[in-house]
Amino acid sequence: MRENNNILKIGIVGCGDHSREHMNAAKAVPGVRITACCDIIEDRARNCAEKYNCVAYYTDMEVMLKNEKLDAVILCTWPMQHLEQIKKCLSMGIKNILCEKSLTLSAEEALSIWEMVERNGAFLMEGCKYRHHPAIHKLESILSYKDIGKVDSIRATFSNYEPEENLDEGIELDWRFRKECGGGVPYDWMSYLVNACNHFSGGLPTRVFASGNESERYGVINRIYGMIEYDNGIVGIIESSKDANFSQELQITCANGILRLPVAWGIYGEVKITQTHRKQDWGYILTDTYEIEEANAFILQLRNFAEVIKGREQPVIPLKQSITNALTIDALVTSMLEKRIVTMELSKDFNK
Ligand SMILES: NC(=O)c1ccc[n+]([C@@H]2O[C@H](COP(=O)([O-])OP(=O)(O)OC[C@H]3O[C@@H](n4cnc5c(N)ncnc54)[C@H](O)[C@@H]3O)[C@@H](O)[C@H]2O)c1
Repeated sequence: MRENNNILKIGIVGCGDHSREHMNAAKAVPGVRITACCDIIEDRARNCAEKYNCVAYYTDMEVMLKNEKLDAVILCTWPMQHLEQIKKCLSMGIKNILCEKSLTLSAEEALSIWEMVERNGAFLMEGCKYRHHPAIHKLESILSYKDIGKVDSIRATFSNYEPEENLDEGIELDWRFRKECGGGVPYDWMSYLVNACNHFSGGLPTRVFASGNESERYGVINRIYGMIEYDNGIVGIIESSKDANFSQELQITCANGILRLPVAWGIYGEVKITQTHRKQDWGYILTDTYEIEEANAFILQLRNFAEVIKGREQPVIPLKQSITNALTIDALVTSMLEKRIVTMELSKDFNK
């Protein structure tokens, strides 16, 4: 790692909507600075540099990597670009990469990322900020107590009613509706659901089945409902739709209680976890509530990324989990499109 005066110098690729979360987070993490930014749209790169006091801005990431002595790179571009951009970073000596979700678009690409990162002895973490929030750590800790009992199933939802006929064709179409960018719910909203089911199951996915449909107008998948079976018998249920009312719920059902986090993936403000459980008599439900303090998951994510680089922490999301998630997303999409059950045979490398 190169460090000047102990400040970690980071470059960001992609100065679109989501980049501001990383730029603002960097202001709040000691020892971290985003010194350079890059976007193919020059105005965006320049505006970003001016607003957040970057030393330099670029329209070509290769030039940025050549000119700037960076300790790390944040990739905040569309999912279909991540593989090539990770490859470019590694070939130009960048050893630390924070890459936004979804890591990539296919099982094959995910395995090639795993191989490249291992070969280069690099550190790559997928940006999936919800995992850094204290609400998720609280769930992990409740599940580690014996009295909640064994996990039976996990249900994770991310939906919002977004009819395509309301989209304004006159303005540049968001990447989420562009198939060539990796648009559609599987590589966007569903990536959280798979991440949560895989994480809280503590097992490896063995079989999946999914149903849903593609947008007639844009060809992207805009609804997907699926089931994931794990090698330890736990079942994951995922629901993601642009035709359904807003929901971002995580529910973990255990032998002695059901945990619910009503808004799990984008928590802005205070949130409460509830644990419902039955008293001895039928029909008698008790609810325990856990208050969670307000936190900014983007700051916590960037802090964890920096601490791993400095050798003081382990990544909250190890790369092998992200690879397993990418393989699971691929299997769910295949199942939905080909209308069949898909069997997954993960290599021992991906054992937790
Ligand atoms: N974790 C979260 O909460 C969260 C939320 C939103 C988006 N995201 C992720 O962030 C990423 C970006 O999403 P967004 O909503 O900001 O998209 P966006 O379209 O607003 O921004 C992407 C930017 O990348 C630029 N770009 C395209 N090709 C480039 C290249 N070759 N070099 C440099 N710049 C290039 C585009 O011009 C655009 O400005 C996606 O992977 C998305 O999944 C994460």
